Amino acid sequence: MDISRVGVVGCGLMGSGIAEIAAKSGFQVRVRELNEEFLEAGRNRIKKSLDRAVVKEKLSAEDRDAAWERFSFTTEGAALADCDLVIEAIVEELEAKNELFGELDELCGEGTIFASNTSSLTITDMAAATMRADRFVGLHFFNPVPVMKLVEVVRTIATSDETSDRAFAFAKALGKTPIAAKDNSGFVVNLLLVPYMLDAIRHLERGVATVEDIDTGMAVGCGHPMGPFLLCDFVGIDTLYKISEIMYDEYREERYAPPPLLKRIVALKRYGRKSGQGFYDWSGEKPVPLPI
Ligand code: CAA
Ligand code: NAD
Repeated sequence: MDISRVGVVGCGLMGSGIAEIAAKSGFQVRVRELNEEFLEAGRNRIKKSLDRAVVKEKLSAEDRDAAWERFSFTTEGAALADCDLVIEAIVEELEAKNELFGELDELCGEGTIFASNTSSLTITDMAAATMRADRFVGLHFFNPVPVMKLVEVVRTIATSDETSDRAFAFAKALGKTPIAAKDNSGFVVNLLLVPYMLDAIRHLERGVATVEDIDTGMAVGCGHPMGPFLLCDFVGIDTLYKISEIMYDEYREERYAPPPLLKRIVALKRYGRKSGQGFYDWSGEKPVPLPI
């Protein structure tokens, strides 16, 4: 394994999880955020998750402390210059991602591989904005990263065999199960999962049943670990909306179109669990469905 220093850009829901598992797996991890406030929030998220793993007896206190020693936190792009791999997990917007990759392309060494954790953008659209399309790959992790074993490894027609092989080896070194995905919007899983979540919202719009009953239906009737509305809140309503717009723009198929209700909930800044409200109110011990 010739990757030792890993940069993670964006330390929200996904970036914090990716950074955590990379440090636990022995990699040196440099985490970059937009500003000190978000950096501090990301740092706390990682710390809380590591502490929780110790309480749950999944990690020893010594291993937690050793993992913590492998972290450094920064708001500067230059701190990622000598990373072997940089994984981007920022907001789901092509413009923002390409601005970041353009900057990193100037700063990072020739040998640095770039990876994006995008849910719905194509890797090609980001790789094309850099001078290293052969060293650019998709590494699509699943939420919550410390628990979900899957990583979609996405290669474009420009990704080199070496880059793809190293990305697969990295995913395995994290204890994940990598699958190969083509570079189409939604890769493998989101092509199926995103229309399912959007359909649940459309059912709600039509008055088929309540949020709670649809969730109970899919959890109890089909054995899903959580129903579609809990899942929407869990993924982030803002992120789901952006994913839906990107996939609809790509395919022009109705099943990817954002339902009006999704737009209204985003307008109210009810972004789901991370903001305290979405389809549910998350302020108490258990999520409580909000009136829709
Ligand atoms: N970090 C670390 N561990 C966590 C965790 C987190 N954030 N959340 C839960 N866990 C662990 C718990 O410690 C627990 O472990 P043990 O059983 O060993 O004690 C285990 O996961 C189960 O957790 P809970 O008992 O608290 O709760 P649960 O049984 O409801 O499971 C869940 C929680 C794992 C999230 C489960 O509900 C689940 O699998 N939900 C579906 C998640 C899913 O579909 N993810 C994909 C989202 S889509 C995506 O990621 C792609 C995209 O591009 C949008
Ligand atoms: P999030 O909103 O929780 O976190 C995004 C973070 O990126 C924020 O903390 C923000 O401050 C930071 N950020 C924004 N621009 C930045 C920049 N230029 N430099 C550094 N940091 C910046 O979002 P998330 O849910 O973690 O999603 C991140 C990416 O992962 C998106 O592309 C999303 O589609 C993808 N993804 C999300 C999920 C999910 O379930 N939420 C699953 C798989 C993939």
